[in-house]
Amino acid sequence: MIKVAIVGGTGYTGVELLRLLVTHPQVELTAITSRALAGTPVAELFPSLRGHCELAFCEPDLEQLAACDLVFFATPHGVAQAQVPELIRRGVRVIDLSADFRLTDIPAWEQWYGQQHAAPELAAQAAYGLPEINRAEIAGAQLVACPGCYPTAVQLGWIPLLEAGIVDPQQLIASAASGASGAGRQAKTDLLLAENSDNFRAYAAGGHRHLPEIEQTLRRVQPAGASPARVTFVPHLVPMVRGIHATLFANVQSGQSAAELQQLFESRYRDEPFVDVMPAGSHPQTRSVRGTNICRLSVLQPQGRDTVVVLAVIDNLAKGSSAQAMQNMNIMFGLDEALGLESPALLP
Ligand SMILES: NC(=O)c1ccc[n+]([C@@H]2O[C@H](COP(=O)([O-])OP(=O)(O)OC[C@H]3O[C@@H](n4cnc5c(N)ncnc54)[C@H](OP(=O)(O)O)[C@@H]3O)[C@@H](O)[C@H]2O)c1
Repeated sequence: MIKVAIVGGTGYTGVELLRLLVTHPQVELTAITSRALAGTPVAELFPSLRGHCELAFCEPDLEQLAACDLVFFATPHGVAQAQVPELIRRGVRVIDLSADFRLTDIPAWEQWYGQQHAAPELAAQAAYGLPEINRAEIAGAQLVACPGCYPTAVQLGWIPLLEAGIVDPQQLIASAASGASGAGRQAKTDLLLAENSDNFRAYAAGGHRHLPEIEQTLRRVQPAGASPARVTFVPHLVPMVRGIHATLFANVQSGQSAAELQQLFESRYRDEPFVDVMPAGSHPQTRSVRGTNICRLSVLQPQGRDTVVVLAVIDNLAKGSSAQAMQNMNIMFGLDEALGLESPALLP
């Protein structure tokens, strides 16, 4: 059994991790932290877990965490980089769901997140937790940096095109929308029901923190010598709880037909258990992936012109964070990658 702790168990990614880990046959949960609710039974805050989790939330305690095989950090950025170095020194493996170790360019991280990075050497050695491009490195990693939610959808949608070098990498446009759980569980006025229901709006159009992560990954998969990928990324808030829908636009440079593009996507993801390329002309829906680790996508070429449109949907709390984190855990511990992640979406 893998002895597991979660730091930050009261947030939305924390409770989603709990939902998945409590039924995982190889996991023994030993600690779930919350400073605000230390002493409160987990199932009292989350009655959905009654009968599945007998633990109470506890204060983060270094000795208790260091006694685990694996610690998940489901905390705001800045927390893991302060606490992970000592766990790494003690040989514990760590999966971080925050943005702390995603960017290898530390000055860029400091600029986008507005603070000094406390562990730049660990950011350099962390494995980026997108299995579809980095499975081997994840398997041997002590520290895995899980991708952001928008970056997961956007990257999976564009990777086949960027790897093949068949689109203009400097003219990439991503319009994406997320449900409100993407902003976490803290009370914020602009996330109130009365502010957001029956409403649809863009935000951070001038620059969102996920942009440098998306560009970093796309540049990593481009052929040598290609002009570096440059993305215009506009996120939106949509009045639903879970889900991300990304609409991605790129210009095909070498005349591929819609059938060839479909073939490219199908062959790139043929062996990926969690990427589903839908039949040509499909429109994937967020509800078709709710609660699952699936990225469902389709590729279209409207009117046969040179703009290729990719539609990609994920659940931000699942493939966009906690389920992908568990996929990474399965890879790190040599388990079947899909263990505990095979249930279909809840519908309607
Ligand atoms: N929501 C999403 O869709 C999503 C998707 C991908 C990635 N992420 C990332 O995942 C992380 C967690 O997101 P979330 O939405 O679950 O956040 P959240 O709802 O804000 O939860 C944060 C959790 O962290 C704990 N925490 C806060 N400060 C801490 C500290 N200094 N030390 C220890 N624990 C601390 C909180 O508990 P206490 O304060 O009681 O200790 C709480 O349990 C964030 O970095 C987020 O960017 C979120």
